[in-house]
Amino acid sequence: MYTEEMKKSMAKVDENRENNTSYEPPRMTAEEKEALLAEYHPDYKKEEFSVLLTGENKGEKVPKELAALLLGKSRINADFDLSSPDYDVDVLVIGGGGAGASAAIEAHNTGASVMIVTKLRIGDANTMMAEGGIQAADKPNDSPAVHFTDAYGGGHFAAKKELLYKLVTEAPEAVKWLNDLGVEFDKREDGTMITTHGGGTSRKRMHAAKDYTGAEIMRTLRDEVLNRQIPVVDFTAAVELILDEEGKAAGAVLLNMETNALLTARAKTVVLATGGAGRLHYQGFPTSNHYGATADGLVLAYRAGAKLLYPDTLQYHPTGAAYPEQIFGALVTEKVRSLGAKLVNADGEVFIHPLETRDVSAASIIRECTKRGKGVKTVDGVGVWLDTPMIEKKNGEGTIEKRIPAMMRMFGEYGIDIRKEPILVYPTLHYQNGGVDINTQCETKVKNLYAAGEVVGGIHGRNRLMGNSLLDVIVFGRNAGRNAGKRAKETTAGKLTLKHIEEFEREAEKNGALSDIQSPMLLPDYAGKNK
Ligand code: FUM
Repeated sequence: MYTEEMKKSMAKVDENRENNTSYEPPRMTAEEKEALLAEYHPDYKKEEFSVLLTGENKGEKVPKELAALLLGKSRINADFDLSSPDYDVDVLVIGGGGAGASAAIEAHNTGASVMIVTKLRIGDANTMMAEGGIQAADKPNDSPAVHFTDAYGGGHFAAKKELLYKLVTEAPEAVKWLNDLGVEFDKREDGTMITTHGGGTSRKRMHAAKDYTGAEIMRTLRDEVLNRQIPVVDFTAAVELILDEEGKAAGAVLLNMETNALLTARAKTVVLATGGAGRLHYQGFPTSNHYGATADGLVLAYRAGAKLLYPDTLQYHPTGAAYPEQIFGALVTEKVRSLGAKLVNADGEVFIHPLETRDVSAASIIRECTKRGKGVKTVDGVGVWLDTPMIEKKNGEGTIEKRIPAMMRMFGEYGIDIRKEPILVYPTLHYQNGGVDINTQCETKVKNLYAAGEVVGGIHGRNRLMGNSLLDVIVFGRNAGRNAGKRAKETTAGKLTLKHIEEFEREAEKNGALSDIQSPMLLPDYAGKNK
């Protein structure tokens, strides 16, 4: 499968493997990390960002692709008829991933009537794509305080402390909840959970279901939603939030993706759980995200008056598949490095500690492939080696098949046996660190609008550690659902209106900021049909 040129470089990796396996590269100092990020991390490329001229984040920078959507034109007119809603529920959950499903389950527990709308199918979400694990400090040598310290430092001390506190203190209960629901976590014979390190963790607190943890969690949550007979309206996208005349969230305008019919859902409270934005392919990066990750929730919330926090910070996972091109950008889980594989350049040299935080690791790969000229040429790009055979040298034969079978299968499809040959990787767009600003109750600035999951910003600061996203999806998804369910009992929705759309567009136009594209995007336009 590998080209002759790749094989020449691979020979150097093979030659150095013995030494490289036992070599522990030094950790970088804080100053070294800052300098590396400033020069090589994509978040620092000023020319790739635009300043928003309208809305709650006026004057702040966001990726230019996102700016065009936030300030895009609505898919509907403000005079759209809202007088006879097609659906009428207490809690409307927008999004069918891990956060949406968790929210729906907890809202249902409050006795509220709940409905999920999702533009694809329930489970078509980044939760499903998550591989390596979920963090929780539930071992005797660990504590939420240590978890907090790791995550706060890894996020450049920018996380909203009260949100991060909630994340780490509710983590053990979140993992227990999942285990009780039926998630098949990896366990020892005595029933205790097997845990590993992730980048930037000082304790082994990553709980996993092999290397398809997200799929296993999503399977379980989806079953729970369906068993409870919570209505799920699939292939139906939310295209605008509806407010009432007091400015409270009161539902959404929906688009049936199959018939193009527009529908109205009235609700007492709304939970936004629409996920991430990888399919915007910021700066031309490939992505590990699912097909529907197009920042829709940010657009809906922003137009309705919500504030975004850190929308200028993205996570480029260091190890996206760089070769073969059929899986370009697909996630190669960090668990591969936590099991012992190291990043190695074209000359067979280990160039970074395998468990530096993600932003630092990604920047170091970009440096290796640019300034240092030590990348390996792929078909139309470049990558570095991730020396997977080291895993079995360190942990014994059979480890790869047992602990990361999905990785073995993904590369095996293309004739690459990761037990014997290293693989080529390069950063891939993986996660939006920023998103809708919430408080510890998951409330946004718009009354009765709650948010949870990847659409939220601020929990992780400016960089997230592995396994803290599956965790936030559960912790904040559950809280959002519970709070939205309780609130639905004490609120009423007044007259429905879309006036805010008209006002937002008028303001954007006045500021010369209205872009000429329609948003939310809903699905990526790879065929260029909308151009
Ligand atoms: O590398 C991974 O398995 C990704 C995990 C995460 O983003 O939390």
